[in-house]
Amino acid sequence: MTAGPHIPESGTPSEQPVDWPALRALARGAMARAYAPYSGYPVGAAGQVDDGTTVSGCNVENASIGLSLCAECGLVSELYARGGGRLTAVSCVGQDGVPVAPCGRCRQLLWEHGGPGLLVDGAAGSRRLSELLADPFTPEHLAR
Ligand code: THU
Repeated sequence: MTAGPHIPESGTPSEQPVDWPALRALARGAMARAYAPYSGYPVGAAGQVDDGTTVSGCNVENASIGLSLCAECGLVSELYARGGGRLTAVSCVGQDGVPVAPCGRCRQLLWEHGGPGLLVDGAAGSRRLSELLADPFTPEHLAR
């Protein structure tokens, strides 16, 4: 069990190589199992962990629409369900299998478990999470 919140390191880029085709394939597999009957917009997310393993998730919607879970939520849940770790790269895809940018809430969610150096897949190449989210709220704010 985790003793305290994860304070992301201040941005040292991961040196771990990323197999983007494999990560996208994992995300596509998760997308195919999404439960998205309300939006009709299935999403799959796959992440590479610093121990070399991978995790994934899909969106799970609800009749109470605002309760719908994004694919990234499932990914982070699996990360902890199997023992934790730091995310080094993430790919999220829509129904066409093409990368989609994580929503704002999920950028914040990913920050806590991957930090600013987390690589995020994009149709035009990968970007660091720090390019997608400025001035995030972090556990350090809670300590002030
Ligand atoms: N969705 C995700 O799963 N991740 C995102 O980053 C963006 C949006 C889902 C939520 C909802 O089930 C559907 O996509 C349409 O918004």
